[in-house]
Amino acid sequence: MNLPLLRELDDIQARASADLAAAKDDAALESWRVAYLGRRSRLNLILRGLASLPLDERRPVGAAANSLRQGLEEALAQRQAALHEEAVTATIETGRLDVTLPGRPIPVGRLHPVTQTLRDVLGAFEAMGFQVVEGPEVEWDYYNFEAVRIPKDHPARDMWDTLWVDYRRNGDYPMLLRTHTSPMQIRVMEQTQPPVRIISPGKCYRHEATDPTHEWMLTQVEGLAVDEGISMADLKGTLFEFAKRIFGPERRVRFRCDYFPFVEPGAEMAIDCFLCGGQGCRSCANSGWLEILGCGMVHPEVLAKVGYDSERYTGFAFGLGVERIAMLRHAIDDIRLFYSNDLRFLEQF
Ligand code: PHE
Repeated sequence: MNLPLLRELDDIQARASADLAAAKDDAALESWRVAYLGRRSRLNLILRGLASLPLDERRPVGAAANSLRQGLEEALAQRQAALHEEAVTATIETGRLDVTLPGRPIPVGRLHPVTQTLRDVLGAFEAMGFQVVEGPEVEWDYYNFEAVRIPKDHPARDMWDTLWVDYRRNGDYPMLLRTHTSPMQIRVMEQTQPPVRIISPGKCYRHEATDPTHEWMLTQVEGLAVDEGISMADLKGTLFEFAKRIFGPERRVRFRCDYFPFVEPGAEMAIDCFLCGGQGCRSCANSGWLEILGCGMVHPEVLAKVGYDSERYTGFAFGLGVERIAMLRHAIDDIRLFYSNDLRFLEQF
């Protein structure tokens, strides 16, 4: 019996166990594997040399060496699993979520103040039975001017300094960025028969010298009601009800004559200035009032232009400035703040 070889196997077993217990990571496990199970390990040499042992030694040494290899392989697998387990536990421990901590706030976006006001304005009229219709911002001269009784060279065109669009096909009317939403009166009446009760919100553009109450771009809401027997009383009643809903019953409203070519008679409505309370200041151009809309009874020629019987039908129309209303509601003293993209301003609403 070859006692030295068997004793050596015992020896390997003892050293391997001790080293394995000391291995703390994947790299250490790998060197351990190379040292004890690798091709050039002592154990492998013994296994490869079995064939040259005398016959009576081959069996006991072979059995012992093979069972040692199997034992070492199992021990390695176990140690690997144990280390993996430890690593997972450590990760869970250090990365543990404390669900009782307060959450991090997620920044919330908000609607632009003009959008907020626009929605309230539309809501007030919708509650009175008006239907919302939208139309194009790039418009034909015909709808913006001609059809609402502002022919070429009419002095009233001075009221709307126009941004023209450089586009023209043979025989077409010139194109422009609409200067008001009134072209929507025509577009709607061309498509429908009375009774009509619509509001039409949207952006309008004017070539303006800007100041605290004037901007290049503004938001208007057009209103139009046409039916048999509609009178100026319906117009005033509708607009006073609107003012009460938007500004509250305390706010003073001024209603007086004004001129627009497409209405007869024409009027304007103003609200007492929020800043000076009517004393006169920069926001109201020292008048104490802020004009928020133009209105009037639809001119019979406009009705006739779209083929309505102007003997039978009458109607009222109005066009209001949404920025002006937002200014009144929030005491904002310069319309240019809305579109200058200063977040410090916008975040207040
Ligand atoms: N379109 C006019 C403006 O922009 C407002 C208006 C609309 C006046 C409807 C009367 C009737 O100033």
